[in-house]
Amino acid sequence: MILKVARLGHPIIRMQAKPIPAEHVVRPEFQALIDAMVETMHEYSGVGLAGPQVHLPLQIAVLEVADNPRYPDAQPVPLTVLINPVVTILDRATVEDWEGCLSIPDLRGLVPRFKELRVQAIGRDGEALDFVARDFHARVIQHETDHLKGEVYVDRMTDLRSLSHLAEWQRYVVAPGIRKP
Ligand code: NI
Repeated sequence: MILKVARLGHPIIRMQAKPIPAEHVVRPEFQALIDAMVETMHEYSGVGLAGPQVHLPLQIAVLEVADNPRYPDAQPVPLTVLINPVVTILDRATVEDWEGCLSIPDLRGLVPRFKELRVQAIGRDGEALDFVARDFHARVIQHETDHLKGEVYVDRMTDLRSLSHLAEWQRYVVAPGIRKP
């Protein structure tokens, strides 16, 4: 099932998401919700989708990077479900790169993100996850966990002048011979 995606301006995008009781994760209705979030992420070629983006104020995010037309240069990340994620920054060095968001359609902006994180969460079968994420993987996790705190990538931009309409960004930034500023 494809879920409706809330856009910036809908109050849920600014809400703090609530933790999910661990025992709910294996319930069929919760598993169906995870499937719907994954299907919705795939439908809109997202690399991640967080609960508030589908009108659910719950601490869940799904992410996957695999030959994504919206992020053609990104390193692959396997399909991951993060429930109640806790992020610890391991490397406070920041890297700037372009981000977009299904809740802020047709825009891209340069966002500084921490380079390396430890991520602890519950996975889709209720299992404990504990892993280190680096670079673009760490970026996607920071973007998605921000959504669980009611924050979006434009809040993290240090210079709003890089904010670009997608069509112009593809023409002037992605086009061969013209790289990042
Ligand atoms: Ni987003």
